[in-house]
Amino acid sequence: MFSTSRALARLLSLDDFEAAARRRLPRPIFGYIAGAAEDNHSRDDNRKAFAELGFLPRVLRNVSGRSQAVTLFGQRYSSPFGIAPMGISALSAYRGDIVLAEAARQAGLPAILSATSLIPLETVAQAAPGTWFQAYLPGDLARIDALLDRVAAAGYRHLVLTVDIPVSANRENNVRTGFSTPLKPGLRLAWDGLIRPRWTCGVFLRTLLRHGMPHFENSLATRGAPIVSANVMRDFHARDHLDWSHVAHIRRRWGGLLIIKGILHPDDAALAREHGADGVIVSNHGGRQLDGATAALRALPGVAREARGMAVMMDSGIRRGTDVLKALALGADFVFVGRPFNYAAAVAGRVGVAHAIKLLHDEIDRDMAMLGLVSPQDMDASLLISPRDAFTPRENG
Ligand code: GLV
Repeated sequence: MFSTSRALARLLSLDDFEAAARRRLPRPIFGYIAGAAEDNHSRDDNRKAFAELGFLPRVLRNVSGRSQAVTLFGQRYSSPFGIAPMGISALSAYRGDIVLAEAARQAGLPAILSATSLIPLETVAQAAPGTWFQAYLPGDLARIDALLDRVAAAGYRHLVLTVDIPVSANRENNVRTGFSTPLKPGLRLAWDGLIRPRWTCGVFLRTLLRHGMPHFENSLATRGAPIVSANVMRDFHARDHLDWSHVAHIRRRWGGLLIIKGILHPDDAALAREHGADGVIVSNHGGRQLDGATAALRALPGVAREARGMAVMMDSGIRRGTDVLKALALGADFVFVGRPFNYAAAVAGRVGVAHAIKLLHDEIDRDMAMLGLVSPQDMDASLLISPRDAFTPRENG
């Protein structure tokens, strides 16, 4: 414990977790989390878009009473951020999906359980009630209904339908680092395991001994294939059949909140609204799907203009409190952060995730004070400046 807290004390920002996780995880697992599609243009643009914006802070505003708590879908959360859905998290940390969901719940934040998770959604809901569920659905009504019924029976209230994955992306990075679906145990993985005994014993063997070979548990209503099985892709089929008629059907059948994730085009935001979605998540999937898809931050204002009552959330590229506030300024009500929390779970389990949450929380608190804000709701575009604005000559009296 002492050594864990000493190690965590050296992690000062969300980005610091990446280097620490790289040392801890086998190369294919780390590569799967860190990598994106093709040339990583979209992943890198996510960061660039934030860096291009500056602040015009307000001063002398007595910000001593500030609070970053926000209300979303009628629920109070302690900060305007949550944990994005991430597949196979239980391979980066022991019981990773539960670790992420419990750490979020303890901090008063939402976590979204991924469809490509390895722990039954019922088990996660029991450990951390209030967790959201993310689905990838095939264009097949019988399978859709069966999954929706299962998710509702487990007590989930928030269904996040991810729509930017009609087909699997071209993840050359995965091939280069030796990651594949199904996972192919071979010399490479065996060597990686040998040189990373903490992961091999603390995550992989511990999981194998206590819970058996991990399966994709939540892609459909029935248990999927084990991660090493040649049948794994069987449950990922027919996603290219999905269209708005399925969303209309889901809206009729699902009594909870419906959130569509992976929206970038304003016309799709309008369609989501017309189909009765309660919210959208503006996202380019962390750059992991269509390489060249614009940064989520750049698409945010266009989507926000079409929201008209829907909650607007975003993910993709948030690493700092300042990024959270820039997203809020451009129309987000709430944001989600992915990879850094996965790394934090890999480095130190729940305390690692709690530490990462605290870092981001404290950054937002400091940033709000220096921007002259007492509430995240006060953040608006008048506090931002883009390079183009900066070079516009101002009129002189
Ligand atoms: C799964 O959603 C992934 O992006 O790998």
